[in-house]
Amino acid sequence: APVSIDLAETDAAKIGTLRKSGDKEHTGEGVKRIKVQGRVQRVAKQGGLIFVWLRRGMAIMQCVLAGDLAKTYDALVLVRETSMEIVGELWELPAGTHAPLNRELHADFFRIIAAAPGGDDAFVTRVPNDFDTTSSQASEALLNLRHLTLRHDKPAAVMFVRSVLEGAFHTAYRELAVTKVSPPALVQTQVEGGSTLFSLDYYGEPAYLTQSSQLYLETCLPSLGDVYCVEKSFRAEKSLTRRHLSEYTHVEAELDFIPFESLLDHIESIICRVVDLTLADPIAAKIIKEYNPDFERPSQPFMRMRYSDAIDWLRAKDIKNEEGNDHTFGDDIAEAAERRMTDEINRPIMLTHFPAGIKAFYMQRASDDDRVTESVDVLMPGVGEIVGGSMRIWDHDQLLAAYKREGLDPAPYYWYTDQRKYGGSPHGGYGLGLERLIVWLLKLWTVREACLYPRYMGRCRP
Ligand code: 4AD
Repeated sequence: APVSIDLAETDAAKIGTLRKSGDKEHTGEGVKRIKVQGRVQRVAKQGGLIFVWLRRGMAIMQCVLAGDLAKTYDALVLVRETSMEIVGELWELPAGTHAPLNRELHADFFRIIAAAPGGDDAFVTRVPNDFDTTSSQASEALLNLRHLTLRHDKPAAVMFVRSVLEGAFHTAYRELAVTKVSPPALVQTQVEGGSTLFSLDYYGEPAYLTQSSQLYLETCLPSLGDVYCVEKSFRAEKSLTRRHLSEYTHVEAELDFIPFESLLDHIESIICRVVDLTLADPIAAKIIKEYNPDFERPSQPFMRMRYSDAIDWLRAKDIKNEEGNDHTFGDDIAEAAERRMTDEINRPIMLTHFPAGIKAFYMQRASDDDRVTESVDVLMPGVGEIVGGSMRIWDHDQLLAAYKREGLDPAPYYWYTDQRKYGGSPHGGYGLGLERLIVWLLKLWTVREACLYPRYMGRCRP
């Protein structure tokens, strides 16, 4: 009976020895009969041979149908995405030819498991491989077919790196003894302002899809110590940009009894550790090299720049604000200006000490300048902001004053306020947009490419 193997299997004990190509004298000792299953990635006819690239997950095997097998009806009408089983011997490649893992399966039998259609309905007709994600029309049409385009090389590669990256975060936090928790998605409090809330009717009560798990993470500090989560956050962003989604994966952490400087050090080392762990995966490393050949692990320490210095920098470079005027202290630095600054400086920047007026209600003021907060955005070349973080107000009365200033009813925040009653502490945390990190790592055009099924204004399918 043939041995079933994965397409990427290399263990000699399982696959046996490869038959030497062109070696008529080979006794066949150690050569095994192999059985594989997968979907057709590519079919090429050459002479009397049919070369089938069989795909299963990310792995590919070149298979050769020859002689009578290549003349069967099923072989002659074979098209991309047909699933099939092939049985035969693994051979070394003829000199000067190339195939994955330098081998090919010489079939003596094959069986169609489910044939894919040809003609107008053929996979290659419906979803051509070379799409341009920067053209909005093409990308909308292709996103309607995301369930099929995911079978293309690049989307599959991006999803693979994403999986490695998520695993790397779990490893990196475990190394630092930060505990994972899973806060709720259905909430009754806002975190990052009312304008991007998705509201819903919750058994007759108003509720929202969470914008950030931060407030919940803060409540875990007294019981679990430092905590993190990797959850979905939701923002009703009313604009279409390359870096805004309505649903994104938010990596958030909260650290207890720390000063601001330690928060900055931690953020920088988590990013570097996660990059190192990802590069340590050989497949992920190969994909990063392919799509972002110039990628370099960022060196520590990151450049640190105060918001007020960024305003001076923008003025010196004559980069205007959204109204077309010179930037002045108190301006929100808009996406375009932020990208220009980050691309020009061309290294990670930790932008700190934003004015209180443009930041969230919960941020702690700086001890040396009451106008600004102990806050940080991490900016990366090619994408801009990937992390937002801060120290949190931990004094009870200051928090009540912050609700008031922001026009927030403190009632639904009773549980958050209580933290300041029972053993408050200087603490801080941050949120990192996973899709934006992926855009930076793989030099993608937009965060939409970093999602399995992106959600943004106007798109909620498939
Ligand atoms: O700066 P933000 O809004 O910060 C917070 O939500 C904090 N409460 C997080 C915390 O301290 N625990 O968002 C943090 C990060 C941004 O830097 C960005 O990477 C990402 O979340 N992000 C988005 N990513 C994709 N689409 C959107 N609409 C995003 N909004 C924020």
